[in-house]
Amino acid sequence: MKVLYVASECAPFVKTGGLADVIGAVPKVLEQLGASIKVLLPAYPALAKVLKGGKTVAQLGDLHSGNARLVAVRKEGLDLLLLDAPHLFDRPGNIYLDDSGRDWADNHLRFGALSAIGAKVALEGAGRWKPDVVHAHDWQAGLIPAYLRQAGKGAPPSIVTIHNIAFQGLFDASVRHTLGIGDELFTYEGAEYYGKLGFLKAGLALCDKITTVSPTYARELLTPKFGMGLEGLLQARSDDLSGILNGIDPDIWNPATDPDLVTTYSSRSLKRRGKNRTEIESRFGLTPYPGAPLFCVVSRLTRQKGLDLLLEVLPDLVERGGRLALLGSGDSDLETGFKDAADRYAGSVGVIIGYDEALSHLLQGGSDAILVPSRFEPCGLTQLYGVRYGTLPVVARTGGLADTVVDADNAAIKSRRATGVVFDPVTADGLRQAIQRACDLFDKPETWRSMVRAAMRYPVGWDGSAPQYLELYDRMTRPGTGKETR
Ligand code: ADP
Ligand code: GLC
Repeated sequence: MKVLYVASECAPFVKTGGLADVIGAVPKVLEQLGASIKVLLPAYPALAKVLKGGKTVAQLGDLHSGNARLVAVRKEGLDLLLLDAPHLFDRPGNIYLDDSGRDWADNHLRFGALSAIGAKVALEGAGRWKPDVVHAHDWQAGLIPAYLRQAGKGAPPSIVTIHNIAFQGLFDASVRHTLGIGDELFTYEGAEYYGKLGFLKAGLALCDKITTVSPTYARELLTPKFGMGLEGLLQARSDDLSGILNGIDPDIWNPATDPDLVTTYSSRSLKRRGKNRTEIESRFGLTPYPGAPLFCVVSRLTRQKGLDLLLEVLPDLVERGGRLALLGSGDSDLETGFKDAADRYAGSVGVIIGYDEALSHLLQGGSDAILVPSRFEPCGLTQLYGVRYGTLPVVARTGGLADTVVDADNAAIKSRRATGVVFDPVTADGLRQAIQRACDLFDKPETWRSMVRAAMRYPVGWDGSAPQYLELYDRMTRPGTGKETR
């Protein structure tokens, strides 16, 4: 089975969130299962060195007023295809946003080009390699099914994965001409979305199969509350929609070998976590208080993540003796809110605004609990890292959070299956009570330790999910099924 992955980010090369972690991990697991996966990515500056070591496999000529080529290179266990188009991708700063924090004005060209070249590789291959299936991730690769539909016969089947439906890639209708999307596809059944060109809409309407990153989110997406306007289309396509849970890369996220920890540990040497905790306290300016839990947050600071609720309940957390170490960046009102809170509750609340991969590992390796009060969460990875590291997740009952954390109710505690605290409704009150419960559990060291051990035993790798992707690719390419039935 040969599959072309097309995405806008991929760890460890370029990452703004969980999409990168997933794209960096799944292809490696699928390779172990016998598949051949190539990952098409834009050649951002972060990939400059990797690009230099690669081999040109195709000259692409002019691509929106600049020369482009396709470069193949194997790096970090991944077969990469890099779209080298300096006029589109060789620019400093955030891969999606300009210096003023706005979307790059030419994002339709940048990711339209990624989609167009994705479709070209799907149709013609790269060198001697030609995919059986093309797998597009999020809106940045959303136009691929549209280009394949325009190509007609001979196109391989396509699958679109929704990592987050909040980002849909909506652009002025007129850009379709520049992008070569024909009027016959600019319809309600195709790429048109309330008069605009919708990259994700096009992908979801025109692909063969749709997946998202947890079973619960797959169900939630069919409702107006979570579908963000696309619920009708998804309901119509519900036979083709499934939820396949994300996993984590167990080599990168392993407390027994993690180079970013002060001390590594396993479930049999939990005491060693103490040194990591001490380092967190010192980095975040926290006054040590072993009698109460150290909560952490590692997150984009956006409304999705529900961190405004955390701001509301911080006084209660602090009153209870709890500590909070927060690492994140994003919306300026949340950044300001947390910086103010760190001043007000100096010693109890420590805040570092920014993006710091190594520090995110340390927080997982030394905190007692990780807070993820998201309003919606397609899967979420930080709670999975928490589970692996014995940093018990306190999470909202939504999406992948609901699918990956076993709430500490009496039955689960008794049967030693509890791995965290799951709460609803997702309100300040709900979160306040969840934090109280976590503190109460922490007060019972034996129960807490047993939960930490249950968490560290809980399967969070790709063993369950990677075969589900393979099975789906198989079904799509089997004669008489998948593509042929549409
Ligand atoms: P999302 O993709 O919605 O942001 P996920 O939980 O799926 O949420 O993935 C977030 C990823 O980004 C995780 O790997 C997390 O550790 C990482 N991350 C988020 N914010 C930061 C930060 N400020 N510094 C370092 N890593 C971060
Ligand atoms: C998105 C979602 C997150 C998910 C990640 C990887 O960024 O917000 O929940 O874990 O994609 O699939």
